[in-house]
Amino acid sequence: MSLHVLDHPLIHENLAIIRDKHTTAGSFRSAVDTLTGLMAYPLTEQLPETQTTVLTPLMEAKVARIASPIVLVPILRAGLGMLAGMQQMIPEAAVGVLGMARNEKTLMPEVYYAKFPDKLSEAEVIVLDPMLATGGSAAEALTELKAMGAKHLRMACLVAAPEGVSKLTLEHPDVDIYTCALDSGLNAQGYILPGLGDAGDRLFGTEVVLQDEQHAK
Ligand code: PRP
Ligand code: URA
Repeated sequence: MSLHVLDHPLIHENLAIIRDKHTTAGSFRSAVDTLTGLMAYPLTEQLPETQTTVLTPLMEAKVARIASPIVLVPILRAGLGMLAGMQQMIPEAAVGVLGMARNEKTLMPEVYYAKFPDKLSEAEVIVLDPMLATGGSAAEALTELKAMGAKHLRMACLVAAPEGVSKLTLEHPDVDIYTCALDSGLNAQGYILPGLGDAGDRLFGTEVVLQDEQHAK
């Protein structure tokens, strides 16, 4: 397993936006789109290619194409926030969906929905979830995908905690992790520190903000 912590001024800039608690849901989503699009490049850098030819308007040209189908798997719900940015870069990718929520008491992930395309075994699968906290959700998602036949998997997140990285390293040593930041740890509720708070709530505007607080911003 390799951990890839992306290091680029555009990554830093957009991370600063999503970490800021004053960032609105719209700006948050837009920065997540940008980050995810930027991640597509390192995530796909090692994909196998095949050599083939196409006809230009003038003559035959030798070209390289990505050899295998790509399947993007957002983990509901926050992973959906990373889908549009990735689809922008890989428009022909198929999408599998995994519904998974963390039980707030046990912090254990629970699967509530799964729908994947056929022939997962031939595909390059990229799992999307902005937060790798305890690693429970990601580990369970990877186990589920392997049970469905997936063999070539990558994990893409925006912020990772060392605890989550350790869990994936132990349970899925074959899966490379790509993250925009490696943070310092978790609080007692399993939130990443310094993190960005609840990614799903911030993406979908479901955090409870009192009107007075909103006007005070
Ligand atoms: C968040 C996040 C991950 C999970 C990470 O989802 O999107 O799926 O927590 O935590 P873990 O590494 O400790 O498992 P959440 O359960 O809050 O659901 P949501 O996406 O519906 O908001
Ligand atoms: N899920 C989130 O949305 N944020 C965290 O910090 C941890 C888990």
